[in-house]
Amino acid sequence: MTKLLNGEKLAISIRKEISKEIKTLILDKKKRLPHLGIILLGDNSSSITYVNSKIKECKNIGIQSSLIHLPNNSPEYNLIKEIEKMNNDPLIDGFIVQLPLKKHINTDKIIMSINPKKDVDGFHPENFGKISLNMKAFFPATALGILSILDRYKIKISGKHTVVIGRSRIVGRPISILLSRKNNRIGNSTVTITHSYTPNIDFHTKKADIVITAVGIPGFLKGKMIKNGAVVIDVGLTKIEKNGKKSLLKGDVDFNTVYGKASYLTPVPGGVGPMTKIMLIKNTLIAALNNR
Ligand code: GUN
Repeated sequence: MTKLLNGEKLAISIRKEISKEIKTLILDKKKRLPHLGIILLGDNSSSITYVNSKIKECKNIGIQSSLIHLPNNSPEYNLIKEIEKMNNDPLIDGFIVQLPLKKHINTDKIIMSINPKKDVDGFHPENFGKISLNMKAFFPATALGILSILDRYKIKISGKHTVVIGRSRIVGRPISILLSRKNNRIGNSTVTITHSYTPNIDFHTKKADIVITAVGIPGFLKGKMIKNGAVVIDVGLTKIEKNGKKSLLKGDVDFNTVYGKASYLTPVPGGVGPMTKIMLIKNTLIAALNNR
C-alpha cells in the first residue's frame, strides 16, 4: 500500500499557521505587512506561471508583493540595477530573482548581487555556506517544503539512506546538504547525490530508503528502480502541451509502477509544489521579523 503525501492539504494547514503568526507578530503589534519582491526577466511560460502563483499565494495569505518584469533582452546591468533597488528599499523585506535566467546573464553574478539578508530563496553563497555549517540561514523553499512534508508525516530520516537525483542549486544540492546535517528530527541521513554523469542510477536508487527525484524528465523513476517500501519524493514538474488543449503537469515518477511499491509518494501535482510556495512566504515572514 502506498500512502500519498498530500502537499496541498499540508500547505493549507501551514498557511493557517502563517496567517496566525502574521496576525500576532505583525498586525497586533501594528507593524507593516511583510513584503516580497519578485524580479522576472523574459517570457519563459513556466517562469511566468510560477511567478503568478507566488503572487497569488501572497494575496491569499495577505502579504504584499511587488513584481518587476524585465523584457527578454534586458542587459545584465539592468537586472543588477533592479536588484540594487530592492536591496536598498526598506519597504521590501525579501525578494527573489526567478530562475532560470537567459544565456546572456551570469546567474552566479546575479545571485551574489542579492543582499543575503533579503535572499528569501536561500541561494546566495552566504546562506548556502551557513546551511552547510548548520548555522541559521534562509533555506531554499523547495528543500524546506520537502523537509516539512517528511517531518509532518513523521517519516523517519535519521539513520536512513537517501538518494537524490539531480544536483541543481534550487533542489538537489540544498536538500542533500540539509538531510545530511546533524539533526535528529530532520537530518542525520546518509545521502548519495546522483546526476546525469552517474552510471547506473538504479544501482543507487534500489538501495535507498528515501528517493528524491528532481531531474525534470517525466516518468524517469520507474518502480523497478526502487526497493519495496521506499519513500519517494517527486520534485519534477514538466508541462506537457496537448496540441492546443490545456497542458498537463507531469512529475519525474512513473506513477503506475511506483504506486503500490513505495510506502509513501508525493503526487504531481499536489505534492511538493504547493509546499514550495508556502515556504517562500514563511521565509518572507522571517525576513520581515528580522528587519523590524
Ligand atoms: N525557478 C524554479 N524554482 C525556483 C525557485 O524556487 N526560486 C527561483 N528564484 N526560481 C525558481
